Amino acid sequence: MDAIKCIKERRSIRQFTAEPVSHEVLSEIVEIARFAPSWKNTNISRYVAAEGSVKDLICDKAFDLYPGNAEMVRKAPMLVVQTYVKNRSGFERDGSFSTKKEDRWQNYDAGIAAEAFCLAAFEKGLGTVILGIFDEDEVAKAIGLSEDRGVAALIVIGHPAIDNPEAPKRKDVSELLTFLS
Ligand SMILES: Cc1cc2nc3c(=O)[nH]c(=O)nc-3n(C[C@H](O)[C@H](O)[C@H](O)COP(=O)(O)O)c2cc1C
Repeated sequence: MDAIKCIKERRSIRQFTAEPVSHEVLSEIVEIARFAPSWKNTNISRYVAAEGSVKDLICDKAFDLYPGNAEMVRKAPMLVVQTYVKNRSGFERDGSFSTKKEDRWQNYDAGIAAEAFCLAAFEKGLGTVILGIFDEDEVAKAIGLSEDRGVAALIVIGHPAIDNPEAPKRKDVSELLTFLS
């Protein structure tokens, strides 16, 4: 699949078949996603694939803000917790911030990596949806995350149970792009 088709035709998928996600295929997706650019090539993203009781625990504890996400994740075969190594992206070696964005480059890097992950999954025939509405403390507790790591996002992944849906409308280029000279 060419890159433009992949970027344009990937959709958020929220309904999945019961077929499990192959651990080998998930490894291949991460092998591709690791080529995403990152601050000084720090590669801070780490992926924790939750299935079974760990996924159920996250559904029970982490979605009070939006129970719709819990229902979807419960029915999905796998939930990937995208975590990151803290205090690397956006930081100098002495621990000070490199720029005025302070630690926000961590989330920037995680976002780029998440998109690469979702595009790679799409190419492999899998559907994904990134979730932002969840309680990160509960997720960290459920997966036993160490203090030097943070939770960036959740990515639900599985075999799509629906045909690729229509793309939600995007803003026009004229609204997105400004030329100055
Ligand atoms: C940072 C982020 C957080 C999101 N959070 C949720 C979420 O909590 N629940 C959900 O169903 N979709 C979530 N989405 C998916 C968006 O709703 C979706 O990407 C958007 O509507 C565009 O649709 P598309 O991905 O099919 O192009 C999130 C996407 C991003 C990038």
